Amino acid sequence: MNKYDFGIVGLGVMGRNLLLNIADNQFAVAGLDLDPEKVASLQAEAGAEHQIHATTDAATFVGLIQQPRAIMLLVPAGKPVDSAIQSLLPYLEKGDIIIDGGNSYFPDTDRRFTELQAKGIHFFGMGISGGEKGARRGPSLMPGGDRQAYERLRPIFEAASAKVDGEPCVEFLGNGSAGNYVKMVHNGIEYGIMQLLAETYDLMKKAYGLPTGTIQQAFEQWNNAELQSFLVEITSEILKRKEENGAYLVDLISDWAKSKGTGKWTSQNAMDLQVPIPVIDAAVNMRDMSKYKPERIEASKSLIWDQGQTATADINEIKEALQFAILVTYAQGLAQLTVASETYNYELNLEVVTKIWRGGCIIRSVALEDFRKAYDKNPALRNILLDENIGQTVSKLQKSVRNVVKTAVEKGIPAAAFLNALTYFDAYRSENLPTNIIQAQRDYFGAHTYERIDREGTFHTQWD
Ligand code: 6PG
Repeated sequence: MNKYDFGIVGLGVMGRNLLLNIADNQFAVAGLDLDPEKVASLQAEAGAEHQIHATTDAATFVGLIQQPRAIMLLVPAGKPVDSAIQSLLPYLEKGDIIIDGGNSYFPDTDRRFTELQAKGIHFFGMGISGGEKGARRGPSLMPGGDRQAYERLRPIFEAASAKVDGEPCVEFLGNGSAGNYVKMVHNGIEYGIMQLLAETYDLMKKAYGLPTGTIQQAFEQWNNAELQSFLVEITSEILKRKEENGAYLVDLISDWAKSKGTGKWTSQNAMDLQVPIPVIDAAVNMRDMSKYKPERIEASKSLIWDQGQTATADINEIKEALQFAILVTYAQGLAQLTVASETYNYELNLEVVTKIWRGGCIIRSVALEDFRKAYDKNPALRNILLDENIGQTVSKLQKSVRNVVKTAVEKGIPAAAFLNALTYFDAYRSENLPTNIIQAQRDYFGAHTYERIDREGTFHTQWD
């Protein structure tokens, strides 16, 4: 008894795979799940080289783990996390550590942190990215909260995480709910890039009239250069898959997109913080739009636009447009992290965040190393578009995105994420926006006052 280094509660796909990964690294791991089948199947999969003990009983589970205990929860976000904590509490002692490895909503993490601190239990939220395979072979881990507790667990997490150039894709990120917040924004960026890839496919097919095979080859090639990334890679794999009758599987998949909430939370919180992240907002909107299938079918018959002949495709131009929009999506998410860090006192270091995103996670890409370098050069960077190298790159790519967006508009193909990436770029580089009109209108109908550029003070005009 008491000889296990680590415990995992929740032996679903993620919990079971992470447990096996940690056990591969010579740690003894205990597992708890209320479902006896999950317990039995993990025990059956554990090899002779593993030290694993799984159980359905919370008291036995807690008793197996070395003190001070380290227990990670991998259960669905929301109530199940609170229930799991409650089921463990009677057996825990002061100094024990609970880690929430799920996609928890960050205010819930703050609440749990405070509630457990009062009981002498260390709590921290840790974002985990990389899906099932990542959990098994090396995820990106985003821990935040209690630094001391993290230090005790560092060897386990560093061993289990993905590595890039020998460096582990895990580092302590910041105070309070920093780990869950960073993971939430990671997912917001994930939504944005996924939407851009979907729009790219749609434009290539409907605006440029390219066959799926050609689109697939383009994605495959792009993954060898500036666009190299997990999401481009899997999209190219997806576009290869055919049914026995020769039909592309993707053409048979319903367009009704589901979501678990992290993208929506990113957008909601960005509004609270007043940080514009329009590509991510568009991605959330388009998943919502996808649910209106019956209405879209009806509208497709009455709201007609004759798109004319398909446009001539310039594959390189489409690639450059995509690269532009992906860079702008990262810029928006990272700008949100900058403001959130100040607002919530997370004390994030974005050089570290971009470093641990280089491997293991869903948004890993070659671009992350450029961002890491930019933050290394200037830790106070407010927006990666202001970095000289990244700024030059997007400036060079803008002609292509303008052409692609023009084609999308002309042909009537929805490309909200592309349009929003370009609009963000054009607004961000505008010294003057037309919001002076908004201020005048507010003053006109509500006497809300305005400031002037030629004089100090607050002004009101009797407009009528
Ligand atoms: C990851 C993923 C992971 C999960 C998403 C899916 O980083 O490994 O982001 O957390 O697949 O939560 O989110 P949606 O169901 O909202 O698309």
